[in-house]
Amino acid sequence: MPQLRSVVLGVGAYLPAKTLTNDELAKRVDTSDEWIVQRTGIKERHIAAEGETTSMLGEKAARDALANAGVSANDIDLIVVATSTPDWTFPSTATQIQAALGITQGVAFDLQAVCSGFVFAVATAEKFLRSGSHKRALVIGAETFSRIIDWNDRTTCVLFGDGAGAMILEARPSAGRLDERGVLTTHLRSDGRHRAKLHVDGGPSATQTVGHLRMEGKEVFRFAVGQVTDVVKDAFAATGLTPEDLDWFVPHQANRRIIDMSAQKLGIAPEKIIATVHLHGNTSAASVPLALAVASADGRIKQGDLVMLEAVGGGFTWGSALIRW
Ligand code: ACO
Repeated sequence: MPQLRSVVLGVGAYLPAKTLTNDELAKRVDTSDEWIVQRTGIKERHIAAEGETTSMLGEKAARDALANAGVSANDIDLIVVATSTPDWTFPSTATQIQAALGITQGVAFDLQAVCSGFVFAVATAEKFLRSGSHKRALVIGAETFSRIIDWNDRTTCVLFGDGAGAMILEARPSAGRLDERGVLTTHLRSDGRHRAKLHVDGGPSATQTVGHLRMEGKEVFRFAVGQVTDVVKDAFAATGLTPEDLDWFVPHQANRRIIDMSAQKLGIAPEKIIATVHLHGNTSAASVPLALAVASADGRIKQGDLVMLEAVGGGFTWGSALIRW
C-alpha cells in the first residue's frame, strides 16, 4: 500500500461580533488595561451573543475553512471537534456541526484536551487519514469559555474569550520526504496529577452543574514554560529538523509572555512567532487555528513553509504537530 500523508488544504476562523476591551473589563473588576497588557499581551476578547453556541461558532469557522480549501461539505468524511465547552452534555458538538453543514456521510466526534485540544485533534485526524480509513477531515477548535468564566474573579476573567478555528486535511500519497507537504510528525503528552492547577469546578457526574474555571496562574505559567518544550524537541528529534529550519512557530495563544519565553527556550527566532493573543485572548482549543487562519490570510504562512504547532492545557495535556504547509 502506498504511504499516505495528511495535507492541509485550507484553514478558517470565526470570532463573535461582540468585543470586550480591557477598559470595559476594568469597569467590572479591579483591574486595568496596563496590568492585563503587561502580564498577558491581551487587548480585547470576543464574547458570543446570547444564544450563540460553540457549534454555531464552529460551523462558521468550518464554512470559512471549506471555502479557503475549495472543498465542498459533501467531500468531508471525518469531523473532529476539540472543545471543553460543548453545546450540550450530549450529543457531541461535532454531530451538531455535521448536521448544520448538511453532512450525512462519515463520522463526527468530539475530543477534549482543553487548550491542547486542536493539536490533539490534528494528531487524531492525521492518524485516521494516514491509515487510509478516511479521505478528508474537518478539524475544528471551538469554544465559548465566557460561559464557564467566573466574571467576578479578576485572576481568570481577563484571560479568556470565545471563538473558533478550523482546518481541512486530505490524505494524499507520499514518498515520505520531509520537503513534501503534509503533517510530518505529532507528539502528545498528558499528566493527570495536575488537575487542581487548572480545572472547572463542575460537571455532569460530579456536581450536575456546569461549573466555573479555576486556575493557579503562577503554577500554570511555570509548567507551560518549563515542561512543554519537550514535545517540540521530540518533533525535531523525530525528523532531524532544527529550529533554524522552521518558518513559523504557532503556539497556543494563552499569554504573550509564555509564547515569547517558550520560543526563546527552544532557540526559535522572535520573527518566526505567530501571535494573535492580543486580538482574542485565550480561546482554548480555538487559539491555534485562529492564529493559523490570520497568518494564512495575511500571506505569512505559504505553501511549502515548515510550521510548528504547540499547545498546553488543563489536565495537564500538551502536544506538538510539525507540518509542511
Ligand atoms: N488585574 C490586576 N491585578 C491582578 C489581576 C488583574 N486581572 N489578577 C491578579 N492580580 C493581582 C494579584 O491579586 C496579585 O496581587 P497581590 O500581589 O496584591 O497579591 C498580583 O496581581 C500578582 O498576581 P500574580 O498571580 O502573582 O500575577 P502573575 O504575574 O503570576 O500573573 C497571570 C498572573 C497573568 C495569570 C500569570 O500567572 C499567567 O499568565 N499564568 C498562566 C495562566 C494562563 O495563561 N492560563 C491560561 C490557561 S492555561 C493554558 O492555556 C495553558
